Amino acid sequence: MHPASVARSTGLWALNHGVPRVVFHLQARKGEPLARIQTDPVLREHPEAMWQQVRERGDLVRGGYAWVTASLDVGSRVLRGDEFGVPLPEPSSPTARRLDRFRDPWAAGPVDPPSLLAIDPPDHTRLRRLVSRAFTARRVAGMEADIEATTHKLLDQLAGERRTDLIESFAAQLPVTVIADLLGVPAEERAPLLGWGDGAARLLDTGLGLRQFRRAERAIREMHQWVNDHVERLRRQPGDDLLSAVIQQADDLPADERPTRHELRALALLVLGAGFETTVNLIGNAVQLLSDHPDQRDALVAAPDGWGNAVEEVLRYDSPVQLTARMVRRPVEVAGRSLRPGHAVVVMIGAMHRDPAVFEDPHRFDVTRQNAADHLAFSAGPHFCLGAGLARVEARVGLAALYERYPSLSVEGHGVRRPTRVLRGFESLPVRLG
Ligand code: HEM
Repeated sequence: MHPASVARSTGLWALNHGVPRVVFHLQARKGEPLARIQTDPVLREHPEAMWQQVRERGDLVRGGYAWVTASLDVGSRVLRGDEFGVPLPEPSSPTARRLDRFRDPWAAGPVDPPSLLAIDPPDHTRLRRLVSRAFTARRVAGMEADIEATTHKLLDQLAGERRTDLIESFAAQLPVTVIADLLGVPAEERAPLLGWGDGAARLLDTGLGLRQFRRAERAIREMHQWVNDHVERLRRQPGDDLLSAVIQQADDLPADERPTRHELRALALLVLGAGFETTVNLIGNAVQLLSDHPDQRDALVAAPDGWGNAVEEVLRYDSPVQLTARMVRRPVEVAGRSLRPGHAVVVMIGAMHRDPAVFEDPHRFDVTRQNAADHLAFSAGPHFCLGAGLARVEARVGLAALYERYPSLSVEGHGVRRPTRVLRGFESLPVRLG
């Protein structure tokens, strides 16, 4: 790397990861539950006791470095409230300008502007509309037959096997194939996607070590280059895929509304990465839970109509996205607390899903739970997941076909959890197929 790039990257790491890393460790030593989950992989694997500590302190509590909530009601209020923005300083503030000096548009990650996850209205509304107009419920419904065909093709490849790593051979392959089809990615260019996606997923976390950060930055830089070429190719030769539709719509806009190349690239990169880095976790988490609860697995195999609700219960019980955050933009009172501009609120999605005020016997996994879908696994408000409908279809179709073929599929030994903090899923999951 050029010395100037090394200095830039180190500066960005120090602000986004180095300083928070020190703060997390200091707070963890003082016993702050969220910081302990962030810094201790064992607690991260079994966070229930820490969640309980947060809940016992109140609906909205002052943590060491931010307000924290494990209440579904308060979390929903924060995510939907227009007094809150993305967890970054106001773009016009001196801190934001200082951060901008270190940012490289060819290495911008999923939580760096202009990613949808890192911008507020009106830019967020303008860019999000481009995807939401083209990514309709009708388009998703029209994809179901193809998703089923992809699922069967992947399962056919397992024929004759007795054991497999379910993540490698199925849970990761299904979403990446579906999103690559949706975004018009040629078959021969798909191989590096999973590696790049893993880098992007790391960049959702705060407090990475310098080496981890550099590795993730390298992956995201390669992804930017490839996405840029892909966008240009679809601009010249549009297909009937979603990304071609987004590009055409964007190019037809009046100049003052048209996204810049950087904005369009960031949009494509986010949809691509979010399209497979989360759904893999949903499928993997479901397989682990059903292996732990074979009676519920058998009931689903006997009555496959239940798969839709089972997917909701997995999203609730073992959420693929565990955390998000917002920053207060205007003074606001929530849960009896006065929040001021600049205060951050961490919304503990995974913990909120065990809120006894909403879910009866919340630590029980029950695929027939009546209100399982009352979760916020896809967030809420302006940043509500654009791919929620697609993820639901993929998981329902994928799991139903998997268990139809292997009704007694079970985990053999122990899966290995991903090291990520925001995303929760498995890196590998050894299973006996039946
Ligand atoms: C189980 C699978 C998935 C889960 C749990 C999930 C979860 C989420 C969550 C929690 C957010 C919002 C974060 C926040 O409020 O700060 C989000 C945003 C987003 N998701 Fe998903 N997602 C999933 C699948 C997908 C898929 C399949 C796609 C694309 C096809 C996708 C595309 C996006 C995009 C583009 C955003 C940004 C929306 C915005 O900021 O306006 N997601 N997702």
